[in-house]
Amino acid sequence: MTPTATERRNRTVVLLTGGTSGIGRAAARQLAARNVTVLITGRRRAKGEAALSEIQDAHPSGEGAFYRTDFAEQSDVRRLARDVQADFDRLDVLLNNAGTGQGERTLTNDGLELTFVVNFVAPFLLTNLLVPRLRESTPARVLSTVTVAQHDKAYDMREGDLSNLDAVATGESFELEQAYVNSKLALLLFTYELADRLAGTGVTAASVNPGLIGTTDITRNAPLGGTKVSHWIAALLARIAPLGPIETEATAGEMLVHHAMDQELPDGEAVYFDRWEQADPEPRATNQTLRDRLWTFTADLTGLTETGAMGKA
Ligand SMILES: NC(=O)c1ccc[n+]([C@@H]2O[C@H](COP(=O)([O-])OP(=O)(O)OC[C@H]3O[C@@H](n4cnc5c(N)ncnc54)[C@H](OP(=O)(O)O)[C@@H]3O)[C@@H](O)[C@H]2O)c1
Repeated sequence: MTPTATERRNRTVVLLTGGTSGIGRAAARQLAARNVTVLITGRRRAKGEAALSEIQDAHPSGEGAFYRTDFAEQSDVRRLARDVQADFDRLDVLLNNAGTGQGERTLTNDGLELTFVVNFVAPFLLTNLLVPRLRESTPARVLSTVTVAQHDKAYDMREGDLSNLDAVATGESFELEQAYVNSKLALLLFTYELADRLAGTGVTAASVNPGLIGTTDITRNAPLGGTKVSHWIAALLARIAPLGPIETEATAGEMLVHHAMDQELPDGEAVYFDRWEQADPEPRATNQTLRDRLWTFTADLTGLTETGAMGKA
């Protein structure tokens, strides 16, 4: 059934980046089943159209849109922000979920390391550009998909290190896992700073570690070895008997939808969810000096310093 104009106006609108595969694709279907208008992004039109048709199947009047966007290109991110604001006069949730892991150092046209750009610089830019529309749609929120933010033996991941931002941004001494955790630590720090800067506006911010999901494409560019093997093992275990932090795409998608829609979030203070539960990340993830440095550094990288990255209140 085609929704009426009033029904359309009253519908919640969620922009879910990386809705074409893995956790994002599962979350998109579940959002549609809740009668939410789901806007998804990805790099390939055919994959996007396939995910869109799942959205339409998930609800009789399921509505969605696909925006072809490559997060390696800042111009694509800017176009996405412009198009979404032109097409929809409200935005209730921005779900920064698109992510990548690169097997080798790959540079974008701007000379920056691709993992850092896709996982952190692009969501930083997109969020800043969409804040005006989020502020018009309150209560609104920004939820970002990160990785484990406490030391946890079950993941056996190394620690993020943002002590030299120039080296991280250009991928000096590149190593897959280090680049990945650095980019996710940056996204986590950004979430804390964002919540702080948006205090009192009705827009809140949170991040979620979805656990270990072995069936997604996130390791597609990883060499055969530790990361890939641990993903395969997680996929196998998820089928036999889910253990520890292991989730399926469907349960991780549910988790994203739950944190995006179901409970209230505190004003001015970011929340970190370790899978379903609120948790305290390691102290470095909230460090104020690092937050300030990272914000200034990234506003500069994205040219937002001149054109209005949110200043401190
Ligand atoms: N799987 C896990 O165990 C795990 C654990 C912790 C956190 N996460 C995070 O969860 C999120 C979803 O990952 P997933 O496991 O579901 O992986 P996935 O199946 O590889 O999905 C990644 C999504 O990101 C999009 N993407 C990748 N590179 C992009 C680029 N350059 N520009 C625009 N979009 C891009 C992909 O779209 P296209 O390929 O269609 O362009 C896809 O929709 C990621 O942020 C990941 O880091 C995953």
